[in-house]
Amino acid sequence: MIEIENLWKSFNSNQVLTGLQLNIHDGESLVVIGKSGSGKSVLLKLMIGLLKPERGKIRIEREDIVGMGFRDLQKIRRRFGFVFQAAALFDSLTVAENVGLALRKFFHYSEGKIEHRIRECLAFVDLEGAENKYPAELSGGMKKRVGVARAIATYPQYILFDEPTTGLDPETAENINQLIVKLKNEMEVTSVVVTHDMHSAFTVGDRIVLLHDGKIEVEGSPTEIRKMVHPEVQKFLIGYTLNQY
Ligand SMILES: Nc1ncnc2c1ncn2[C@@H]1O[C@H](COP(=O)(O)OP(=O)(O)OP(=O)(O)O)[C@@H](O)[C@H]1O
Ligand SMILES: [Mg+2]
Repeated sequence: MIEIENLWKSFNSNQVLTGLQLNIHDGESLVVIGKSGSGKSVLLKLMIGLLKPERGKIRIEREDIVGMGFRDLQKIRRRFGFVFQAAALFDSLTVAENVGLALRKFFHYSEGKIEHRIRECLAFVDLEGAENKYPAELSGGMKKRVGVARAIATYPQYILFDEPTTGLDPETAENINQLIVKLKNEMEVTSVVVTHDMHSAFTVGDRIVLLHDGKIEVEGSPTEIRKMVHPEVQKFLIGYTLNQY
Protein backbone atom coordinates (compact mmCIF):
# COMPACT_ATOMS: atom_id res chain seq x y z
CA MET A 1 0.00 0.00 0.00
CA ILE A 2 1.18 3.50 -0.82
CA GLU A 3 -0.14 6.33 1.34
CA ILE A 4 0.47 9.88 0.21
CA GLU A 5 -0.36 12.52 2.73
CA ASN A 6 -0.43 16.32 2.40
CA LEU A 7 2.16 16.42 -0.38
CA TRP A 8 3.55 19.81 -1.44
CA LYS A 9 5.96 20.30 -4.34
CA SER A 10 7.05 23.46 -6.12
CA PHE A 11 9.77 24.52 -8.53
CA ASN A 12 10.74 28.09 -7.64
CA SER A 13 7.46 30.03 -7.83
CA ASN A 14 5.64 27.24 -9.67
CA GLN A 15 3.48 25.51 -7.04
CA VAL A 16 2.71 22.10 -8.58
CA LEU A 17 1.29 19.99 -5.73
CA THR A 18 -0.59 21.65 -2.90
CA GLY A 19 -1.43 19.17 -0.18
CA LEU A 20 -2.17 16.13 -2.33
CA GLN A 21 -3.73 13.10 -0.61
CA LEU A 22 -3.84 9.68 -2.27
CA ASN A 23 -3.87 6.04 -1.22
CA ILE A 24 -2.95 3.27 -3.63
CA HIS A 25 -4.20 -0.15 -2.62
CA ASP A 26 -2.44 -3.45 -3.16
CA GLY A 27 -3.35 -5.14 -6.42
CA GLU A 28 -5.29 -2.24 -7.88
CA SER A 29 -4.70 -0.50 -11.14
CA LEU A 30 -5.00 3.22 -10.50
CA VAL A 31 -5.21 5.69 -13.36
CA VAL A 32 -4.17 9.31 -12.87
CA ILE A 33 -5.52 11.80 -15.39
CA GLY A 34 -4.92 15.53 -15.47
CA LYS A 35 -4.08 18.18 -18.01
CA SER A 36 -0.57 18.75 -19.30
CA GLY A 37 1.60 20.36 -16.63
CA SER A 38 -0.72 19.40 -13.75
CA GLY A 39 2.07 17.41 -12.09
CA LYS A 40 1.38 13.78 -13.05
CA SER A 41 4.98 12.93 -13.95
CA VAL A 42 6.18 14.88 -10.91
CA LEU A 43 3.90 12.76 -8.72
CA LEU A 44 5.39 9.52 -10.10
CA LYS A 45 8.93 10.81 -9.59
CA LEU A 46 8.12 11.79 -6.00
CA MET A 47 6.80 8.26 -5.38
CA ILE A 48 10.19 6.71 -6.09
CA GLY A 49 12.20 9.48 -4.46
CA LEU A 50 13.62 10.96 -7.68
CA LEU A 51 12.22 14.30 -6.48
CA LYS A 52 11.84 15.55 -2.91
CA PRO A 53 8.68 17.31 -1.71
CA GLU A 54 8.77 20.40 0.52
CA ARG A 55 6.20 18.87 2.78
CA GLY A 56 4.21 15.69 3.25
CA LYS A 57 4.60 11.96 3.62
CA ILE A 58 4.89 9.14 1.10
CA ARG A 59 4.58 5.81 2.87
CA ILE A 60 5.44 2.65 0.97
CA GLU A 61 4.30 -0.27 3.13
CA ARG A 62 4.24 2.10 6.12
CA GLU A 63 7.80 3.32 5.54
CA ASP A 64 8.02 7.06 4.83
CA ILE A 65 10.46 7.62 1.96
CA VAL A 66 10.57 11.42 2.39
CA GLY A 67 13.93 12.22 3.96
CA MET A 68 15.19 8.68 3.44
CA GLY A 69 18.90 8.25 2.69
CA PHE A 70 20.19 7.03 -0.66
CA ARG A 71 20.79 3.39 0.35
CA ASP A 72 17.36 2.87 1.89
CA LEU A 73 15.78 4.59 -1.08
CA GLN A 74 17.63 2.23 -3.44
CA LYS A 75 16.08 -0.73 -1.61
CA ILE A 76 12.60 0.76 -1.89
CA ARG A 77 13.12 1.53 -5.59
CA ARG A 78 13.80 -2.13 -6.31
CA ARG A 79 10.14 -2.81 -5.54
CA PHE A 80 9.17 -0.53 -8.43
CA GLY A 81 9.18 -0.89 -12.17
CA PHE A 82 9.00 2.35 -14.10
CA VAL A 83 7.83 2.69 -17.70
CA PHE A 84 8.91 6.17 -18.73
CA GLN A 85 7.04 8.69 -20.86
CA ALA A 86 9.64 8.20 -23.61
CA ALA A 87 10.77 4.56 -23.66
CA ALA A 88 14.21 5.66 -22.33
CA LEU A 89 16.13 2.66 -23.63
CA PHE A 90 19.91 2.76 -23.89
CA ASP A 91 20.63 3.01 -27.62
CA SER A 92 24.07 1.41 -27.38
CA LEU A 93 22.69 -1.69 -25.64
CA THR A 94 20.75 -4.53 -27.24
CA VAL A 95 17.17 -5.27 -26.24
CA ALA A 96 18.36 -8.15 -24.02
CA GLU A 97 20.97 -5.93 -22.34
CA ASN A 98 18.37 -3.22 -21.73
CA VAL A 99 15.93 -5.68 -20.18
CA GLY A 100 18.65 -7.32 -18.07
CA LEU A 101 20.21 -4.12 -16.76
CA ALA A 102 18.61 -4.00 -13.30
CA LEU A 103 18.63 -7.79 -13.01
CA ARG A 104 22.41 -7.85 -13.43
CA LYS A 105 22.84 -4.95 -11.01
CA PHE A 106 20.62 -6.12 -8.17
CA PHE A 107 20.17 -9.90 -8.48
CA HIS A 108 22.93 -12.38 -7.81
CA TYR A 109 21.71 -14.68 -10.54
CA SER A 110 23.81 -16.93 -12.75
CA GLU A 111 24.14 -15.74 -16.35
CA GLY A 112 21.90 -18.61 -17.46
CA LYS A 113 19.16 -17.57 -15.05
CA ILE A 114 19.40 -13.95 -16.15
CA GLU A 115 19.08 -14.93 -19.79
CA HIS A 116 16.11 -17.12 -18.95
CA ARG A 117 14.37 -14.25 -17.17
CA ILE A 118 15.07 -11.89 -20.09
CA ARG A 119 13.49 -14.38 -22.52
CA GLU A 120 10.52 -14.83 -20.19
CA CYS A 121 9.89 -11.05 -20.01
CA LEU A 122 10.28 -10.59 -23.76
CA ALA A 123 7.81 -13.42 -24.33
CA PHE A 124 5.37 -11.72 -21.96
CA VAL A 125 5.39 -8.60 -24.15
CA ASP A 126 5.29 -10.65 -27.36
CA LEU A 127 8.83 -9.87 -28.44
CA GLU A 128 10.41 -13.31 -28.58
CA GLY A 129 13.54 -13.31 -30.66
CA ALA A 130 14.20 -9.56 -30.37
CA GLU A 131 17.09 -10.08 -27.90
CA ASN A 132 19.89 -8.98 -30.21
CA LYS A 133 18.19 -6.02 -31.84
CA TYR A 134 19.16 -2.44 -31.01
CA PRO A 135 16.53 0.17 -30.03
CA ALA A 136 17.13 2.05 -33.31
CA GLU A 137 15.83 -1.00 -35.19
CA LEU A 138 12.50 -1.03 -33.30
CA SER A 139 9.21 0.77 -33.89
CA GLY A 140 7.78 3.08 -31.21
CA GLY A 141 5.35 0.39 -30.03
CA MET A 142 8.10 -2.21 -29.80
CA LYS A 143 10.25 0.18 -27.77
CA LYS A 144 7.38 0.68 -25.34
CA ARG A 145 7.03 -3.09 -24.99
CA VAL A 146 10.76 -3.44 -24.32
CA GLY A 147 10.27 -0.73 -21.67
CA VAL A 148 7.54 -2.87 -20.08
CA ALA A 149 9.73 -6.00 -20.25
CA ARG A 150 12.52 -4.09 -18.52
CA ALA A 151 10.16 -2.79 -15.85
CA ILE A 152 8.82 -6.25 -14.97
CA ALA A 153 12.17 -8.08 -15.13
CA THR A 154 12.99 -7.59 -11.45
CA TYR A 155 9.60 -8.85 -10.20
CA PRO A 156 8.40 -5.45 -8.96
CA GLN A 157 5.50 -5.11 -6.58
CA TYR A 158 4.53 -1.77 -8.12
CA ILE A 159 4.71 -0.62 -11.73
CA LEU A 160 4.43 3.04 -12.67
CA PHE A 161 3.48 3.87 -16.26
CA ASP A 162 3.92 7.41 -17.52
CA GLU A 163 1.67 7.86 -20.58
CA PRO A 164 2.21 4.37 -21.96
CA THR A 165 -0.01 4.87 -25.03
CA THR A 166 0.84 8.45 -26.02
CA GLY A 167 2.13 8.74 -29.56
CA LEU A 168 1.02 5.24 -30.60
CA ASP A 169 -1.54 4.35 -33.28
CA PRO A 170 -4.85 2.97 -31.89
CA GLU A 171 -4.01 -0.68 -32.52
CA THR A 172 -0.55 -0.47 -30.97
CA ALA A 173 -1.98 1.53 -28.06
CA GLU A 174 -4.56 -1.22 -27.54
CA ASN A 175 -1.74 -3.79 -27.41
CA ILE A 176 -0.15 -1.83 -24.59
CA ASN A 177 -3.50 -1.54 -22.77
CA GLN A 178 -3.97 -5.31 -22.98
CA LEU A 179 -0.44 -5.78 -21.68
CA ILE A 180 -1.24 -3.67 -18.62
CA VAL A 181 -4.45 -5.66 -18.05
CA LYS A 182 -2.50 -8.92 -18.42
CA LEU A 183 0.04 -7.73 -15.85
CA LYS A 184 -2.74 -7.09 -13.38
CA ASN A 185 -4.38 -10.45 -14.02
CA GLU A 186 -1.33 -12.69 -14.24
CA MET A 187 1.14 -11.08 -11.86
CA GLU A 188 0.16 -9.61 -8.54
CA VAL A 189 1.31 -6.11 -9.30
CA THR A 190 -0.11 -2.79 -8.24
CA SER A 191 -0.02 -0.34 -11.11
CA VAL A 192 -0.27 3.39 -11.41
CA VAL A 193 -0.96 4.57 -14.94
CA VAL A 194 -0.67 8.24 -15.88
CA THR A 195 -2.49 9.06 -19.08
CA HIS A 196 -4.78 11.49 -20.87
CA ASP A 197 -6.02 8.73 -23.14
CA MET A 198 -9.52 8.05 -21.75
CA HIS A 199 -9.94 4.84 -23.72
CA SER A 200 -6.79 3.55 -22.05
CA ALA A 201 -7.99 4.85 -18.65
CA PHE A 202 -11.30 2.99 -18.97
CA THR A 203 -9.62 -0.18 -20.25
CA VAL A 204 -6.91 -0.56 -17.61
CA GLY A 205 -8.24 1.32 -14.57
CA ASP A 206 -9.99 -0.11 -11.53
CA ARG A 207 -10.09 3.42 -10.23
CA ILE A 208 -9.48 6.80 -11.84
CA VAL A 209 -8.35 9.99 -10.11
CA LEU A 210 -8.11 13.48 -11.57
CA LEU A 211 -5.16 15.67 -10.59
CA HIS A 212 -6.16 19.32 -10.74
CA ASP A 213 -4.77 22.45 -9.07
CA GLY A 214 -2.24 20.42 -7.10
CA LYS A 215 -4.71 18.01 -5.54
CA ILE A 216 -6.75 14.91 -6.30
CA GLU A 217 -9.96 16.68 -7.23
CA VAL A 218 -12.09 13.72 -8.29
CA GLU A 219 -11.99 9.99 -7.65
CA GLY A 220 -14.17 7.16 -8.94
CA SER A 221 -14.56 3.88 -10.75
CA PRO A 222 -14.56 4.04 -14.57
CA THR A 223 -18.38 3.76 -14.47
CA GLU A 224 -18.65 6.63 -11.99
CA ILE A 225 -16.22 8.81 -13.95
CA ARG A 226 -18.16 8.28 -17.21
CA LYS A 227 -21.27 9.74 -15.54
CA MET A 228 -19.59 12.70 -13.86
CA VAL A 229 -20.69 16.21 -14.74
CA HIS A 230 -17.61 17.77 -13.11
CA PRO A 231 -16.29 20.38 -15.60
CA GLU A 232 -12.67 19.18 -15.47
CA VAL A 233 -13.74 15.55 -16.01
CA GLN A 234 -16.00 16.69 -18.87
CA LYS A 235 -12.98 18.14 -20.68
CA PHE A 236 -11.47 14.66 -20.82
CA LEU A 237 -14.74 12.92 -21.65
CA ILE A 238 -15.56 15.25 -24.55
CA GLY A 239 -12.39 14.26 -26.38
CA TYR A 240 -13.10 10.62 -25.58
CA THR A 241 -16.68 10.71 -26.84
CA LEU A 242 -15.62 12.44 -30.07
CA ASN A 243 -13.04 9.72 -30.67
CA GLN A 244 -15.71 7.04 -30.38
CA TYR A 245 -17.40 8.17 -33.60
N1 LIG B 1 12.73 19.24 -12.83
C1 LIG B 1 11.89 20.25 -12.96
N2 LIG B 1 12.32 21.53 -12.78
C2 LIG B 1 11.48 22.57 -12.87
N3 LIG B 1 10.16 22.45 -13.15
C3 LIG B 1 9.68 21.23 -13.34
C4 LIG B 1 10.51 20.06 -13.25
N4 LIG B 1 9.75 18.97 -13.48
C5 LIG B 1 8.51 19.43 -13.71
N5 LIG B 1 8.45 20.77 -13.62
C6 LIG B 1 7.24 21.59 -13.77
O1 LIG B 1 6.21 21.03 -12.96
C7 LIG B 1 4.95 21.10 -13.62
C8 LIG B 1 4.36 19.71 -13.71
O2 LIG B 1 5.12 18.94 -14.61
P1 LIG B 1 4.79 17.44 -14.99
O3 LIG B 1 5.88 16.98 -15.88
O4 LIG B 1 4.54 16.66 -13.77
O5 LIG B 1 3.43 17.61 -15.80
P2 LIG B 1 2.51 16.47 -16.41
O6 LIG B 1 1.20 16.53 -15.71
O7 LIG B 1 3.25 15.18 -16.38
O8 LIG B 1 2.32 16.99 -17.90
P3 LIG B 1 2.29 16.15 -19.31
O9 LIG B 1 0.91 15.60 -19.41
O10 LIG B 1 2.55 17.22 -20.33
O11 LIG B 1 3.37 15.10 -19.26
C9 LIG B 1 5.21 21.76 -14.95
O12 LIG B 1 4.89 23.12 -14.83
C10 LIG B 1 6.70 21.59 -15.18
O13 LIG B 1 7.21 22.63 -15.93
MG1 LIG C 1 4.11 13.93 -17.84
